[in-house]
Amino acid sequence: MSVAVPARVGVIGGGRMGAGIAQAFLTAGARVEVVEAGGEAAEAARGRVADGLEETARRGKLDGDVGTVLERLTLLDSVADLDVGTGLVVEAVPERADLKIEVLGAAEAAVSPDAVLATNTSSLSVTELASALEHPARFLGLHFFNPVPASKLVEVVVAPETDPQLVGTAGGWVRALGKTDVVVKDSPGFASSRLGVLLGLEAIRMLEEGVADAEAIDTAMELGYRHPMGPLRSTDLVGLDVRLAIAEYLHRTLGERFAPPQLLRDKVAAGELGRKTGRGFHTYD
Ligand SMILES: NC(=O)c1ccc[n+]([C@@H]2O[C@H](COP(=O)([O-])OP(=O)(O)OC[C@H]3O[C@@H](n4cnc5c(N)ncnc54)[C@H](O)[C@@H]3O)[C@@H](O)[C@H]2O)c1
Repeated sequence: MSVAVPARVGVIGGGRMGAGIAQAFLTAGARVEVVEAGGEAAEAARGRVADGLEETARRGKLDGDVGTVLERLTLLDSVADLDVGTGLVVEAVPERADLKIEVLGAAEAAVSPDAVLATNTSSLSVTELASALEHPARFLGLHFFNPVPASKLVEVVVAPETDPQLVGTAGGWVRALGKTDVVVKDSPGFASSRLGVLLGLEAIRMLEEGVADAEAIDTAMELGYRHPMGPLRSTDLVGLDVRLAIAEYLHRTLGERFAPPQLLRDKVAAGELGRKTGRGFHTYD
């Protein structure tokens, strides 16, 4: 298979997003190394990638068989073990700036100086993450969406020091994954989260005010505005805790219009985190 993405890709963190990103590059023909926190976490990450590939195969969309694709996947315990010839490293560890800075610094030390480094952050400042790197010109945001295999969009987030040529190269990689790239200047929430979170927060405020129930609010957007998924169902999919963290960050950086509603805080405190716990603004089996 011809490889239009880098031949070797590293993914740091094999959780929901990291496993999906690994799957995307594997199916495009790359060899992928996934770095996870330790033994059991590594096995769980491998399982997530395998499950994702099985699902793609069931839908008849996998070139080759799952076993052959999985042979190109390696799990590592440490960022320091990344192959020196890796062309691209994408970090997808939890949304904490200190953790991301630590793993990106370790990745920069492990791979060659011409490798590209990327973050999958949904909301943190790419510029701030870049400031800890020795060569920030080779760094940018590649913001994948959940679930990665089915999602068609990747935001290419450009920091002031990002090499302009890299923007075009990264866009080519995104298209080689069968996805569409949109280029966004680094700013809080980029293009997608800034608009998507605002809509979600307003929907929660409408629920608080008793304007309509969750089903009605979602249906209004789905049928009236042709959104494939209403703002409350979409919040359930992302995770109420994840949305709250992003809203808090956007509140601090962009102002009052992003203030998280009390109902969102209450639901997170009660453990109603959306699909992953079976209950959020809707209930799931
Ligand atoms: N979930 C979403 O809808 C979504 C969408 C777009 C972007 N993101 C972003 O992607 C990133 C990851 O989110 P997620 O939902 O996949 O989280 P997750 O919790 O599912 O996965 C994070 C993984 O990182 C691993 N990890 C933690 N510390 C590590 C370390 N030091 N080295 C290696 N691995 C480590 C954890 O074991 C876990 O498997 C976050 O920045 C998030 O904001 C999430």
